[in-house]
Amino acid sequence: TNQTFTMIKPDAVQDNHIGAITQMIEAGGFRIVALKKTKLTSERAGQFYEVHKERPFYEGLVNYMSSGPIVAMILEKENAVADFRKLIGATNPAQAEEGTIRKKFAKSVEANAVHGSDSDENAQIEGDFFFAADERF
Ligand code: GTP
Ligand code: MG
Repeated sequence: TNQTFTMIKPDAVQDNHIGAITQMIEAGGFRIVALKKTKLTSERAGQFYEVHKERPFYEGLVNYMSSGPIVAMILEKENAVADFRKLIGATNPAQAEEGTIRKKFAKSVEANAVHGSDSDENAQIEGDFFFAADERF
């Protein structure tokens, strides 16, 4: 499809970077289809990151992602999933390219400012996790 899902993670929301990150997203050619500020309970965060359940960083990740409010968005652009991952940069900010969102705003491999879906299938699942049909335009 032509959609992807993103979250501005708790560290970036806490540091007042919602506007700057949203600006980079729109400047990158993405249209915001849906947007909300919300907070994940640890149960919901655990469910969202279920695929990482067996990884050593899972518990820390769930605690971090439920530590403060996040901003969830559905984004639209041709080739959305791959192009958005290019715009955010590598998971580890030390490896993120110049000009990417994570290069600018990520603090660590865990507190890395933004999430981006890794496939069309997951973009659909993750968007549905946060947004009803009448919240998308
Ligand atoms: P997302 O867009 O958030 O899914 O990041 P990603 O696709 O670049 O990375 P991945 O799905 O592999 O990991 C999900 C999240 O777990 C990352 O964004 C980090 O917040 C965290 N994470 C990944 N690898 C590590 C790690 O080695 N250590 C720690 N502490 N956290 C990690
Ligand atoms: Mg991922």
